[in-house]
Amino acid sequence: MSDILVHTEAGVMTLTFNRVQRKNSITSAMYAALADALTQAQDDAAVRCVLIQGDATIFSAGNDIGDFLNAPPAAGKDAPPSPVFRFLHGIAAFPKPIVAAVCGPAVGIGTTLLLHCDLVYAGDNSAFSVPFVNLGLVPEAASSLLLPQMLGYHRAAEALLLGEPFMAEAALEVGLVNRIVPPTECNAIAQAQARKLAAKPLSALVETKRLMKKGNAAATRERMDEEGQSFARMLREPAAREAFTAFMEKRKPDFSAL
Ligand code: COA
Repeated sequence: MSDILVHTEAGVMTLTFNRVQRKNSITSAMYAALADALTQAQDDAAVRCVLIQGDATIFSAGNDIGDFLNAPPAAGKDAPPSPVFRFLHGIAAFPKPIVAAVCGPAVGIGTTLLLHCDLVYAGDNSAFSVPFVNLGLVPEAASSLLLPQMLGYHRAAEALLLGEPFMAEAALEVGLVNRIVPPTECNAIAQAQARKLAAKPLSALVETKRLMKKGNAAATRERMDEEGQSFARMLREPAAREAFTAFMEKRKPDFSAL
């Protein structure tokens, strides 16, 4: 079974994280599969909307930490785009609507990818976190721009500097999610909403989304690229190496000398 399931029906391409035993943490191969699926969804006239989902217990634990340690994405301005950046560029510029169904933890990119979705349905067990600092890293997916815009500076600083999870109610209050639903119904509710979108005139959807995003599109891409350069560099620095090694060894990281 693939770690990313791709299924298209009734105009909706559903992308399902399918690595539950590893809490749907995302490997390089999974980013490549997601990026390829988005390219296909963009080009295929039969796909009118994309839905991204996990299961009722876990959305995604973010980037696979073993991958961070052993195969970090290429650093440097002229490095070829790695799968994670192909995915991020693809989702940020994706012209058709994207719906997300989130239950359980949504860590790191599990939360930041939602900033590029149009509708987000969350189980009442969902927990969002962006613990980049705790890993010796910086925000990605343009979240250093988009989270302060959405949450206000101080709440964004609390999320990004402390890295503690915030729950479904807080996410609803700040507008990160549209509705809180029972976890066992979340994927079905999101699917129904995606199908509603898929039944609408695609050209009007695409043009409306483009207009809503227009004011932020260039700044988003620019910030994503700047973050990407810092992120790729900091992945190789001692703080991040200590954080990843500590996670693998199931101990608390020791940043006292860093
Ligand atoms: N990368 C690689 N493996 C991961 C992972 C990740 N991001 N997240 C979880 N796993 C693995 C665990 O190591 C564990 O493996 P094991 O069974 O061999 O011990 C397995 O998935 C189950 O995870 P566990 O931590 O036991 O589940 P939990 O329900 O107690 O906690 C999370 C779930 C998501 C809160 C917790 O796993 C977590 O914090 N993960 C790391 C998140 C993170 O920092 N991601 C990077 C963001 S940039």
